[in-house]
Amino acid sequence: NDSLIVADLVQGGFPYLEQKIQECQKCALHETVTNKVISKGSQHPKVVFIGEAPGKNEDETGVPFCGRAGKLLDKFIEYMALKDGEWAVINTLKCRPPANRTPTKKEIEICRPFMEAQLELMKPKIIILLGNTAEKAYGETLEWGESKIDENGTYIVKIFHPAALIYQRSREAEQYGYLDKYRYLWEE
Ligand code: URA
Repeated sequence: NDSLIVADLVQGGFPYLEQKIQECQKCALHETVTNKVISKGSQHPKVVFIGEAPGKNEDETGVPFCGRAGKLLDKFIEYMALKDGEWAVINTLKCRPPANRTPTKKEIEICRPFMEAQLELMKPKIIILLGNTAEKAYGETLEWGESKIDENGTYIVKIFHPAALIYQRSREAEQYGYLDKYRYLWEE
């Protein structure tokens, strides 16, 4: 039962949670990673960004969003005028899927208690879901840019994943005017 697992993780605090993530062998992804990737930023942020899963750079360093998508995320953070201590970045998966494939439903489910425990410990006022995987893992259904207040009083919003903006130039993003709006961010 997930809620018992989450309660145990929360009870133990951040060091225990980190240890449990490091030890986790609940799916095959742990076999192929260099590093588990847990979080960056504050432990008690106002805003938490949730990405998908570690990529190559993240797997090598153990730091989320440290590659090209991370540079764009840094700019979002700057644009939102968030100061150090006010934000954190986590992922739905703590292990890199081979060749950055999209996480499976099963992998998302297996890893979800870690994300839930992180959020319970961090207690953010605002959660920014970066793309569809984060939306799925969080269990929300939102339009792009749509926001709602969930049952805990947390403000939830879904925006395009920075990697979708950079690498895929997704048609959906184009349709919503994101590409023009943010072009200056990656073309400088
Ligand atoms: N993309 C993600 O979703 N997460 C990362 O940590 C890096 C890239």
